[in-house]
Amino acid sequence: MKKFFSVEDIVNVYDLIKEAIFLKKNPYNFKYNKTIGLVFFNPSLRTRISSQKAAFNLGCHTWILDIHKDSWKIEMNDGEVMKSTQEHIKEAVSVMSMYCDILAVRTFPSLSDRDYDYNEVLFKKILNYSRVPVVNMESATLHPLQSLADVITIAEFTSFFRKKCKVVLSWAPHVKPLPHSVPNSFSQWISKIEEVNFIITCPEGYNLCKKFSDGVVTIQNQNKAFENADFIYAKNWSSYYNYGKILCNDDVGSNDWMITKNKMERTNKAKFMHCLPVRRNVVVEDSVLDSDDSIVLEQSENRIYSAQIVFKKIIESL
Ligand code: CP
Repeated sequence: MKKFFSVEDIVNVYDLIKEAIFLKKNPYNFKYNKTIGLVFFNPSLRTRISSQKAAFNLGCHTWILDIHKDSWKIEMNDGEVMKSTQEHIKEAVSVMSMYCDILAVRTFPSLSDRDYDYNEVLFKKILNYSRVPVVNMESATLHPLQSLADVITIAEFTSFFRKKCKVVLSWAPHVKPLPHSVPNSFSQWISKIEEVNFIITCPEGYNLCKKFSDGVVTIQNQNKAFENADFIYAKNWSSYYNYGKILCNDDVGSNDWMITKNKMERTNKAKFMHCLPVRRNVVVEDSVLDSDDSIVLEQSENRIYSAQIVFKKIIESL
């Protein structure tokens, strides 16, 4: 694997999940002594630490740069007279890539300029200027390491998809506009699994970009969507068509779209999923998150092995 930007960089998703589950059972079997650079344009808890742990498991070293805290003010645009910025993204990425064997990067969307975000302008610059393979630790539109962890988790709870299951991605309320990267990416990855009946439920105006949800049934009736579901994946996202806007904040704290115990009772004893961090009693009721059917911690644990298998695949192709 020469880069990991999206599911399109994967030859066979089933094989990758199998290999990740093997690594989970044998985390210290492979040692490579490489350096992995982790660069953050935005905050992180899980991605940052799980990627470090994945690197350590592979006998690799990491360095971490939190761009906004630890470095010069970066100029993203070409041709600028750099009066208020100190270093151009071109030199910054080229130099950082000389200090590692894999460069893993997290960027976020503007949520104001849809073309800029959906053309992945910043991440494409990073791919272009890096001299080593690049891993997407969340870009403007995608979060593939999270989605790989999510499908690994679903594989574990279905004996590797031995039984067909219904997976529902449900929009849930939030207090501020959030990116589309998790729902876009999850839709892409789960759609590769033939045994899964995948549907999305969201209020009017929140349909995901067709590029990532083409062919996926999307309905506005959350109660109907939950019927017979085996997995409920809750996530907030802002509007794609009215870009970056909150159209319906559901009177945050009300039950209209929040995931509640009552709603979970409509399902087939569904497991509750969320990528975290999650706002309790805004996105989901305490009673759901604290129930035995919540598998959010299993998802977070699998972030180690999604990163580990991706780093391993890239290192083996260096
Ligand atoms: N799920 C996720 O990516 O978490 P962090 O933002 O904490 O990395």
